[in-house]
Amino acid sequence: MTEIEESAGQKTTEVSEDGPEESQKSESNLKRAREDDGESAAKYRKVDGEHTKVVAKHYNTLEEKGLAERNKSRIFYLRNFNNWIKSMLVNEYTTKVKDSLQVGAPLRVLDMCCGKGGDLLKWQKGGISHLICTDIAEVSIDQCRARYEALAARSKRFAPDFTAEFFVCDSTLDRLRERYRDPSVDLNLVSCQFAFHYCFESLPQAECMIRNASECLKPGGFFIGTIPDANEIMRRKKLSDSDTFGNDVYSITFQCDTENPPLFGAKYNFHLEDVVDCPEFLVHFPTLVKLARKFGLELVLRERFGDFYQRMIPRGRGLIEKMQALETYPPFYEGNLNSTTPHDYSHAQEFLDKSGSHGRYSRRLGTLSKSEWEAASLYLVFAFRKMKKVWNKEGKPEFIQ
Ligand SMILES: C[S@@+](CC[C@H](N)C(=O)[O-])C[C@H]1O[C@@H](n2cnc3c(N)ncnc32)[C@H](O)[C@@H]1O
Repeated sequence: MTEIEESAGQKTTEVSEDGPEESQKSESNLKRAREDDGESAAKYRKVDGEHTKVVAKHYNTLEEKGLAERNKSRIFYLRNFNNWIKSMLVNEYTTKVKDSLQVGAPLRVLDMCCGKGGDLLKWQKGGISHLICTDIAEVSIDQCRARYEALAARSKRFAPDFTAEFFVCDSTLDRLRERYRDPSVDLNLVSCQFAFHYCFESLPQAECMIRNASECLKPGGFFIGTIPDANEIMRRKKLSDSDTFGNDVYSITFQCDTENPPLFGAKYNFHLEDVVDCPEFLVHFPTLVKLARKFGLELVLRERFGDFYQRMIPRGRGLIEKMQALETYPPFYEGNLNSTTPHDYSHAQEFLDKSGSHGRYSRRLGTLSKSEWEAASLYLVFAFRKMKKVWNKEGKPEFIQ
């Protein structure tokens, strides 16, 4: 048994190395156990993720806004900024993978909780050869497939840049491998963007999702993602002294004991203007790291969005402009700012005041409104590397670096 340290005020618990049954007997509604690949006889157990249906319904009914609508959105720059973060993360890790591959070797990717396929272009740019897309929301998978087909049709080459497969599945409850066209597939990269936190509803769901991320990854391959930072959420909660806090762009309403939040099922409702309004769960990061290790994944990156931005900006400046991920302040030609909230740009004005104007032209800078930055800075990026499996003297599998 391994003990999980306390962090972000969340309760400690014990996570069994053998499986969830040791540590969460209360999950006795678990129904089935499945044989793994014959090596470890690791168990698959079925739970009823109480909230996954609510989440699926939310994303299934989310209206797809046209470009014109999106351009008017209060979170136009925030969405683009988040997209830029994902682009940089995908680029960093597809590059690492490619550097380790022999010329011409295939690069296969799983996009777990892919949504409507917002990352398809990133995969195309990453030069991958095969993509597996899965999501709990049927409507999103249909749109993702349609986008892929349009992309493939536009492709100038005779064949699409990369092949792809799509299926609807709950990654916290079901084994993805059984749904792949080729269940023996070796993956080089698994990506789960803005979605992994849904699995922290319960320990069995977290284990199921991590196993899904890990089990087909080749040693040296990566599992990358973006999730809300539980420490930052708890910090803001304490500062606000209320169970609800946020601004005109996002809000969080806790629906669990915030004095002693549980390790799993630490539920809050997350509202992000126009895009999200559903239950989410705090991800206790030390627990994630320990669970990941159990499935052969070693933490290699954990960076808050602000720090990741600072590290990436030297190489991502061009892309940030192209993607309109920052708003120009002051706006050109007497244009309007995206936010009308007072003081939402005071940081930018202060910066300009301090640095002074240059010659005839007053300086401009790229920024996010404070409200949008408060939402963006809730998140962190992570990356885990798949370790090598060896057999120890007792004939049991062990993961090594
Ligand atoms: C905020 S969206 C992110 C979509 C996409 N990854 C992106 O970055 O554009 C979260 C996605 O997670 C999916 N999702 C939530 N819970 C899931 C689960 N248990 N299994 C599979 N997909 C899930 C939702 O349907 C939704 O498409």
